[in-house]
Amino acid sequence: MNKAEAKTRILKLREALHRHNHLYYVKADPEISDFEFDLLLQELSTLEKKHPEFSDENSPTRRVGSDITTGFKQVAHAIPMLSLGNTYSREELEEFAERIRKNTGDPVEYVCELKYDGVAISLTYENGSLQRAVTRGDGIVGDDVTENVRTIRSIPLKLQGNDYPGKFEIRGEVIMPLDGFRKMNLEREKNGEQIFANPRNATAGTLKMQNSSLVAKRPLDCYLYAVATEDEIFSTHMESIQACDKWGFKVPPYNRVFKSLDDVFGYVDHWEKNRKELPFEIDGVVLKINSFDLQKKLGFTAKTPRWAIAYKFKAQQASTKLINVAFQVGRTGAVTPVANLEPVQLAGTVVKRASLHNADQINLLDLRENDTVFVEKGGDIIPKIVGADKEKRTSSAPPVRFITHCPECGTKLVRLEGEVAHYCPNNYGCPPQIKERIIHFISRKAMNINAAEATIDLLFREGLIQTPADLYKLSYNDLIRLERFAEKSSHNLLKSIEDSREVPFPRVLYALGIRYVGETVAKKLAAHFGSIDAIGKASHEALVAVNEIGDRIAESVINFFREDANTEMVESLRGAGLKFSVENGNTRLSEALDGQSIVISGTFRDISRDQLKQMIEENGGKNVSSISNKTSFLVAGENMGPEKRRKAQSLNIPVIDINEFLRMINQ
Ligand code: IVH
Repeated sequence: MNKAEAKTRILKLREALHRHNHLYYVKADPEISDFEFDLLLQELSTLEKKHPEFSDENSPTRRVGSDITTGFKQVAHAIPMLSLGNTYSREELEEFAERIRKNTGDPVEYVCELKYDGVAISLTYENGSLQRAVTRGDGIVGDDVTENVRTIRSIPLKLQGNDYPGKFEIRGEVIMPLDGFRKMNLEREKNGEQIFANPRNATAGTLKMQNSSLVAKRPLDCYLYAVATEDEIFSTHMESIQACDKWGFKVPPYNRVFKSLDDVFGYVDHWEKNRKELPFEIDGVVLKINSFDLQKKLGFTAKTPRWAIAYKFKAQQASTKLINVAFQVGRTGAVTPVANLEPVQLAGTVVKRASLHNADQINLLDLRENDTVFVEKGGDIIPKIVGADKEKRTSSAPPVRFITHCPECGTKLVRLEGEVAHYCPNNYGCPPQIKERIIHFISRKAMNINAAEATIDLLFREGLIQTPADLYKLSYNDLIRLERFAEKSSHNLLKSIEDSREVPFPRVLYALGIRYVGETVAKKLAAHFGSIDAIGKASHEALVAVNEIGDRIAESVINFFREDANTEMVESLRGAGLKFSVENGNTRLSEALDGQSIVISGTFRDISRDQLKQMIEENGGKNVSSISNKTSFLVAGENMGPEKRRKAQSLNIPVIDINEFLRMINQ
């Protein structure tokens, strides 16, 4: 394929992929299978790598994000991002309508929309191409989060049709649908990471992540609710939103136009009752005047438009009696307090338990035994206690205290510096920790051993397994005599255990259950060090030199290998034939850059940033985003910003060109 042919093919693939992306993520009506989509994407990606001269920041291949971290540029909004006046009362909605009637005299059309509970975003398009995505910030200046927003599949990178304005802004709300949010939290909990309290926090946290390739893995979505153009091409709000649909945006199917306030209340009632049926969270309804002429006439107060108002739903609350506080011990030994409550109806379900998070939370709530408490569906998911009814409390009621010793094994609990959780440090003697570790070990993404939790429980109670390594010592005779096992199920389990010996090293590493070492980190460590022995011997410096491995993970890895019980388990598993090194050799090519922190800046003619980054890692270095006094040197390409050069000079950090860099690693 010559250059011209490659260019034609690249453009064609991009167009097709944009279209299929829209069909899949916006219309939920795909024409081709995921497999076919991936094939096209792969072809495009290969061609783009071969022909960097045809690169395009809005290519569908950019949806995967990049791990070049940039910090966020502050950008002023061309039109300030105002907020909405809001109310919890119906009377105020009537007053709003009355004010408008007085002001205009005419009967008006209202648009009702849902009030999405996420993070506001402003997108700028030029000639049909996404140029910039900026958060609301303080309404005047926001953060440029374009790289992260590009990874949100339902946001078009290129618009469809040809009747969109040359340059315009569109605003909406980035949200995390509940399904994805719940899955993500489960995963985080399993990896011993802090879970997000609700989808809004998860969205805000995700948009502020420095590494867009991680953002790409988070299940974000976006609904649009306003178009801002210089030319007045629409006469109503609904018209503008319908145009967005045509241009390829995900437009909410929940918007309605009404002529009477009664109908507006009907909409409000409907969604207040049925909000839990939605696949995402809302915190109210927004009422807007449909006509742009009228909107103009009504204008703005200092902070909010006079032509719109938000009716916010009250948090769904109930009051009930606190029976007691139980303490649960997880895989990593973290102790979570859970309140047992007298069953109470709340937002369509019966609530019997509520999370109390940690000791700080109990103190903050100032809970007493036998309190009457208010429960809220925090983000409509896990009910939480938001306060106690102090009037119903007897003055002698003793405070609820966090336990000092493990409820399962009696060991004194510890609280690590800088952490909110209490831990039971008896990792190898505390029954729930042992069991949960084995359950993690056999899970699908780890060793994929086919056994139910109840089976692990039984094997543990029967004294057959104390560590994951004991699984490999089980025999047919051990199993067949147990209640749950027949001939077939015994063979099946043994076969599944046998098969797990073939699981590749990164998954074995993940299966070990080292705190903070989730799937991605396990892959990174395995690729960088190549074997468990190299990881076990790695110093703190060597560990943090791996891209994305910070102090917290490094410390956790080092602590893991300090424990004899862990190294014994590893040896035992090695004896059982598990894979403890990567196959096809090590990806380490040299030690030329060991321990060096390297900044890349500007663009390079023949090498992509990803390739350059890979070279740094293969030779033992770490690619970092910003210059600090810890930076070893900076590789400068074309168009490097003057600010970066100045900073490097002021900190006396060597600046080298790409040829010198290649010489360094090829020596
Ligand atoms: S219209 C001039 N429509 O609510 C203000 N906002 O307090 C235009 N929001 O920051 C906003 N759903 O992030 C509008 N359907 C909707 C919305 C919505 C959620 C958020 C938005 C804004 C906040 C207003």
